[in-house]
Amino acid sequence: MSTTPTQVDAWSLPEGEARVRQLFAARFGAGADPGAWSAPGRVNLIGEHTDYNGGLCLPIALPHRTHIALRPREDDLIRLASAQEPGAVRELRLADVAPGAVAGWTAYVAGVAWALAERGLPVRGFDAVVDSCVPYGAGLSSSAALEAAVAVALDDAFGLGLAGSPQEPDDAGRTVLAAACVRAENEIAGAPTGGMDQSASLRARAEHALLLDCLDSSVRHVPFDLAADGLALLVVDTRAAHSLVDGQYAARRATCEAAARTLGVASLREVTPGDGLAAALARLTEASEDPDTAVRRVRHVVSEIERVEALVELLDAGRAQEAGPLLDASHASLRDDYEVSCVELDVAVESARAAGALGARMTGGGFGGSAIALVDVERVAQVEQAVAQAFAARGFAPPAFLVATAAGPAT
Ligand code: ADP
Ligand code: GAL
Repeated sequence: MSTTPTQVDAWSLPEGEARVRQLFAARFGAGADPGAWSAPGRVNLIGEHTDYNGGLCLPIALPHRTHIALRPREDDLIRLASAQEPGAVRELRLADVAPGAVAGWTAYVAGVAWALAERGLPVRGFDAVVDSCVPYGAGLSSSAALEAAVAVALDDAFGLGLAGSPQEPDDAGRTVLAAACVRAENEIAGAPTGGMDQSASLRARAEHALLLDCLDSSVRHVPFDLAADGLALLVVDTRAAHSLVDGQYAARRATCEAAARTLGVASLREVTPGDGLAAALARLTEASEDPDTAVRRVRHVVSEIERVEALVELLDAGRAQEAGPLLDASHASLRDDYEVSCVELDVAVESARAAGALGARMTGGGFGGSAIALVDVERVAQVEQAVAQAFAARGFAPPAFLVATAAGPAT
């Protein structure tokens, strides 16, 4: 069967800016011109479900960005429109934003303003529109891209002085902005996620992966230029979304936190691999309510943190072509021990490998979303065809593909 894979190309920066300026004019009409900013989606190379365990992760920022045009107001009214959410302009007051009080996509936007105001920063109301080429609900952090775009826009429009310039980003200030985005997501949008996505969008650098230590939010920029090695990172958006995702994510997080309490540690980061892990698993077997589940979840987290360190070592040594087995091991651990994969992700990973990918894994939270495959550039089309055919043969929706490169942060 022949299939034509769908490519998801990123807009250029001028194209994204032109789109939001046009949409702003259509929605809010005349008046002072708005400013324009943007922030990227992300793909995580390795280190999955480690962020809320004080662990390590290694995302890159995608060239696919969410663009925003924003004009500050003198009052506390927030007026919003999105090209991805057709309908009337949404209106709410900053003073009314509180946990549980805002439903839908506007929670991500208003939540960032709320979190900044909670820190005592001088944020008021604003008019804003957004448009995005980050695939929606594909596990590539469209919500974090939205939050980060709002954060840099508010930073600039209200003179908060946290983001720095595109040429010289202020990493300490961006750490504050990322924390505000995480509060928006956790407390206003009500999604109990860790902090990886917001840090990736705000703090990653072009041509580098972001080694994020979630224990103290410190980062190291690890050179990441696969093209120089003749390699490509293919992202397969399975377009699958399974129900119960939110509950499943929260359940994984709760099991890890309960395991940490049982082990008497502040986070699973304190469990060292080797003997430390063996002793921890023995203790969990004795003392947990559901020992089998606790053992598997903890084994994933501790081994995944080790895999992040191993991949960073390979990248530092210019040996990216040897990374495949680490991606494969990460996928196996997420599928078997953490139980967050699904049939579409497994098919994407297996068909990519069968067509010659060096390694492949699910990326992001799981239960749908995207997989990544490390592929020789010469073989990208072949791998895309094989994955598309495997999906067609099983009656799944056709996947979409994008080739990821490490782009710059929110600007
Ligand atoms: P993912 O990170 O997989 O893309 P999330 O569930 O984290 O998915 O975020 C998707 C949600 O974020 C959307 O349902 C919507 O509420 C919000 N969102 C993301 N991008 C936009 C946008 N451009 N306009 C409006 N809402 C958006
Ligand atoms: C995402 C979540 C991140 C991270 C990831 C799994 O959905 O937003 O914080 O936990 O899942 O690594």
